[in-house]
Amino acid sequence: MRGLSFLLTLTSLISPLCSLVVARTCTLSPLGHGRDDTEQVLRAIDECGSGGRITLNEGNFNITKKMTWDLRNSQVDLFGKLNFPPDIQYWLNNSSTYRVVFIQSQASWFVVTGSDFVVDAHGQGGIEGNGQPWWEYFQSHTREDGDGRPLSLTVFNATRGTIRDFTINAPPFWCNAVANSVDVTYDGMKCNATNTNASFFGQNIVPNTDGIDTYRSDRVSLLNFDITSGDDCLAIKGNSTNVLARNITCRGGNGVAFGSLGQYVQFNDIVENVVLEDMQMIRLNASIQPNMVSGVYFKTWTGTVNGVPPTGGGGFVKNVTSRRVSLDRVDRPVHVYQTNGGSSTDTPSSLQFSDLAFEDWTGTADTTELVDIECSPAVPCPDISFSNFDVTTPENAPPELICKDVLSVSGLSGEIHWSYSSEV
Ligand SMILES: *[C@@H]1O[C@H](CO)[C@@H](O)[C@H](O)[C@H]1NC(C)=O
Ligand SMILES: *[C@@H]1O[C@H](CO)[C@@H](O)[C@H](O)[C@H]1NC(C)=O
Ligand SMILES: *[C@@H]1O[C@H](CO)[C@@H](O)[C@H](O)[C@H]1NC(C)=O
Ligand SMILES: *[C@@H]1O[C@H](CO)[C@@H](O)[C@H](O)[C@H]1NC(C)=O
Ligand SMILES: *[C@@H]1O[C@H](CO)[C@@H](O)[C@H](O)[C@H]1NC(C)=O
Ligand SMILES: *[C@@H]1O[C@H](CO)[C@@H](O)[C@H](O)[C@H]1NC(C)=O
Ligand SMILES: *[C@@H]1O[C@H](CO)[C@@H](O)[C@H](O)[C@H]1NC(C)=O
Ligand SMILES: *[C@@H]1O[C@H](CO)[C@@H](O)[C@H](O)[C@H]1NC(C)=O
Ligand SMILES: *[C@@H]1O[C@H](CO)[C@@H](O)[C@H](O)[C@H]1NC(C)=O
Ligand SMILES: *[C@@H]1O[C@H](CO)[C@@H](O)[C@H](O)[C@H]1NC(C)=O
Repeated sequence: MRGLSFLLTLTSLISPLCSLVVARTCTLSPLGHGRDDTEQVLRAIDECGSGGRITLNEGNFNITKKMTWDLRNSQVDLFGKLNFPPDIQYWLNNSSTYRVVFIQSQASWFVVTGSDFVVDAHGQGGIEGNGQPWWEYFQSHTREDGDGRPLSLTVFNATRGTIRDFTINAPPFWCNAVANSVDVTYDGMKCNATNTNASFFGQNIVPNTDGIDTYRSDRVSLLNFDITSGDDCLAIKGNSTNVLARNITCRGGNGVAFGSLGQYVQFNDIVENVVLEDMQMIRLNASIQPNMVSGVYFKTWTGTVNGVPPTGGGGFVKNVTSRRVSLDRVDRPVHVYQTNGGSSTDTPSSLQFSDLAFEDWTGTADTTELVDIECSPAVPCPDISFSNFDVTTPENAPPELICKDVLSVSGLSGEIHWSYSSEV
């Protein structure tokens, strides 16, 4: 006993001393008066980003250049907004952004990397993406993957990192991506991509404003999200494993995506052990955002090696559960297809979906097509299960339930339209 209490006393004496010696603190406020804040923010990260604490006070930090925060054993308290001015031609120049997210060579203007860090925006800070002029610009310019539209917050090559109570307003492109990372938690993320120019009411001018894309990452938690988007609320891309998403509100857009997968012939995309729970899909006023497409959907490219970079990748998706999902006038609650970007003469995909569970779904669809599962004839889907799937069709019309190249499905009530390709 005496030994233990002595030890406790010793450590409680030592640890405050250590933190006095080691922990550095940096506190800064926006410079204002049209000045550029990029340098002072980067200097603070440099001075206090290793074993220290950084406070960015309220106000708009004018961030005019690409920026990486390399954080080691440190915390950033972001009360202010990182404001990325909409200098579209500047940001579209390749040298103005990073290309760390390999898939589709997406551009990033702000990258957080490192280990054992917390970025806490305390429900008031985050990123101002100034997306409105971007969305309007791309009404008359072609959008392509990798065209340089910057994603707002990229967590890359990170280990044990937390992003907390963070708001991203008006992202020009994807709101978030986490890539090549392990043990990353997002707890409290609000993204809002909403067109406010009446000339475009009734149209979706905010495609590609995904809430978050996960790629090449293991053990990722996505908690307490509120995403207003014209595209995927969450997109689980290749090599995302052990992902937990909980309490996710998706306002408008495409719903939660698994994919696209199999986009690169040289890679297998592996997605395994994913739980999505307590999700709600909310249809918005059609003037503001016309789309509310799916609850959860799964998509792959075909097996044909096509285009540049060549498509036709394999892999698998298994053990995915989506539970307690509530829908508000969704077009097609559950959708699986393996013909993204393909034609009818293509080789079927070799990427197999299996062990997909849909539990405790409620709410409304605005078409009768509740479930449309169309697997690849090369690798038909086993173990698809539904339980308490209680989604209402308009005027309670009989639901359409489509199972193509599905090996086994359980728990669906209603008449299932089965079909198999000749290969099965
Ligand atoms: C941000 O800084 C740039 C470069 O100094 C300046 O031209 C621009 O006006 C500033 N923007 C804001 C909103 O202060
Ligand atoms: C892109 O940025 C680089 C570096 O600032 C510059 O040298 C080049 O002229 C820019 N290219 C265009 C097309 O503006
Ligand atoms: C910009 O970089 C992307 C990705 O590296 C590349 O595909 C594209 O050709 C580059 N564009 C220019 C104009 O250099
Ligand atoms: C990833 O992080 C590790 C250490 O944390 C570093 O050594 C490595 O260079 C980083 N890789 C890239 C591509 O940034
Ligand atoms: C998103 O932004 C729009 C336009 O500013 C606003 O009307 C709407 O309330 C916001 N949505 C959320 C969920 O905050
Ligand atoms: C809205 O978009 C129209 C069409 O591009 C443009 O002419 C107008 O200036 C925009 N309105 C505002 C307030 O930016
Ligand atoms: C769910 O997330 C929202 C933010 O989107 C938050 O306000 C709410 O408190 C969360 N609910 C629970 C039960 O944690
Ligand atoms: C996913 O991981 C597997 C090995 O586990 C690897 O062969 C494959 O190339 C990876 N795919 C991607 C997209 O990185
Ligand atoms: C399926 O995934 C869940 C959640 O990650 C995990 O707890 C469970 O062990 C996995 N089941 C199998 C058979 O791997
Ligand atoms: C939808 O939004 C438009 C544009 O703000 C507004 O005029 C209209 O009243 C809204 N409709 C409903 C049903 O709220």
